[in-house]
Amino acid sequence: MENAGWRMIGVFDSGHGGLTVLRALTMALPDRRFVYLGDHGHAPYGNRSPEEIYALTVQGVDRLFGLGCRLVVLACNTAAAVALRRLQQTWLPHAWPERRVLGVLVPMVEAITGMPWMADVPAGRHAGEPRTIGIFATQRTVDSEAFPREIGKRAPEVTVVQQACPELARLIEADAPRDVIAAAVRGYADGLMERLRGVPPSAVMLGCTHYPLVADAFAAALPPGVELLCQPTLTAKSLTAYLERHPELDAPGGEHPSFHTTGEPGRVTPLATRFFGRPAPFRPLVVEPSRAPLEAI
Ligand code: DGL
Repeated sequence: MENAGWRMIGVFDSGHGGLTVLRALTMALPDRRFVYLGDHGHAPYGNRSPEEIYALTVQGVDRLFGLGCRLVVLACNTAAAVALRRLQQTWLPHAWPERRVLGVLVPMVEAITGMPWMADVPAGRHAGEPRTIGIFATQRTVDSEAFPREIGKRAPEVTVVQQACPELARLIEADAPRDVIAAAVRGYADGLMERLRGVPPSAVMLGCTHYPLVADAFAAALPPGVELLCQPTLTAKSLTAYLERHPELDAPGGEHPSFHTTGEPGRVTPLATRFFGRPAPFRPLVVEPSRAPLEAI
């Protein structure tokens, strides 16, 4: 019989961005045990090749399973867009058949389309008012076309216009000065508005978990009144509902989360604590990949 204290829910990101999600998860589910892994040693992911992102994501998830998680949330759009489906179909059933991996992409697509992920509804059946959604994301998330594809299947009346922000996650990870970040965000916002020929979208989605950390810069750079959609709260709602349906994957026992990094804890911790809003003392990751995960690539 497994010890309930052994159970944990893993949260994974390339670096600091997933802390925005973890913060919302711990607020929504204060009596669960979470463990966070930031792959700061390899961040940012957004300009890496799909093969590299897949390999790093599998390795990160495998390490969280090695720490005792049964369920891992990819709090990283780049990892979710590029690696999640492949990982679920090929590596997971062979390496850890009883464990599960979820991503941040699904809750956002559900919120935009108003349709549950698994709904089997022919395209267009629930067509509502035509509207345009702008998406800011990493280069690789944009290239994957995951958001336009999944939104288009469920809500063809929604036009999705994407804008890659290739430098932004790196600037956030490096704790760049606010004016540098604001200038970069203005450039990306101008790029989006150009693609939209100056017509403001109904809403804009921050499709990278690093970006809520600079949401104020996006709000200042966009035309007034454009709604900003952020993932952390949506992911928390979605995880709460998922755990109700899957109590076997739940992790009762509310403790302060533990924080692991593949980078240097001394460098990562001060910034992380600011972003998490509470102390986030990172420690080095000591768990090695336990099941030669890269063999399954
Ligand atoms: N925070 C991640 C995302 O949601 C990754 C950013 C990066 O590492 O480039 O896409």
